[in-house]
Amino acid sequence: MKAGKLYFGSNLKMYKGVADTAAYLTELQRLTADLNREGIELFILPSYTALPEAARVTDQSLVRLGAQNMGWEEEGQFTGEISCRMLRELGIGMVMAGHSERRHVFRETDEDEQRKVRCALDHGMIPLLCVGETAEDKRYGISREVLTMQLKIGLYGVSREEAPRVRVAYEPVWSIGVNGTPAEPAYAETMHAAIKEVLRGMFGEAGSRIPVLYGGSVNPGNARELIALPSVDGLYVGRAAWQADKFNILIRDALAACGR
Ligand code: 13P
Repeated sequence: MKAGKLYFGSNLKMYKGVADTAAYLTELQRLTADLNREGIELFILPSYTALPEAARVTDQSLVRLGAQNMGWEEEGQFTGEISCRMLRELGIGMVMAGHSERRHVFRETDEDEQRKVRCALDHGMIPLLCVGETAEDKRYGISREVLTMQLKIGLYGVSREEAPRVRVAYEPVWSIGVNGTPAEPAYAETMHAAIKEVLRGMFGEAGSRIPVLYGGSVNPGNARELIALPSVDGLYVGRAAWQADKFNILIRDALAACGR
């Protein structure tokens, strides 16, 4: 049996509107209500416009809600941004920083992600920092260096006391989305172990309490093998989680693979 808390989350990206998000969350809570939350945590990151309704229909002791992005100031002349204070007002306590689509489509930098992580921690939120190498990085053999840089800059200034509130998702860029290929389990394990080593180097024992989730084309065919890997603490799922019944089955299969 695999020890420790296991994490299952989904990033809903820019797909579901208000009604679809509410229906999805209602169904997911109903289907997973019997799972013991001492051993697992479920979290869902809807679109901004769906967050108020999501917060209304969700018991966050069953399914934690998070935002997909955040501006790093409390307020100000930042047209189009949503602040940490606005998210807190809705009862949202988790926020993602550094998803590969933010980094590559919207050209965000490691410094941008660091500011969001800092702002989240300052406002009592849980930051979920995503890291991952591109196909080119992998070809040049610099995956570890890239991950180390993303972690060291993204988590710069985080104290040892704050570290256990942070979560990390390893999402290799080449594995994400419709054109992605899932990472081979052996490769995922190597990269997760490397990430954990960097986190221990940065935060000592507190670093080993940071959960590291795998994301990128997780599906019903590979979830069991990926979650059973020693250095994988959870699965961060896109497409395969967007129907509540399918996500419920994937979670239960993954738990069974861990002897739960
Ligand atoms: P897919 O599972 O659809 O590849 O998406 C993963 C992801 O981007 C989660 O943030």
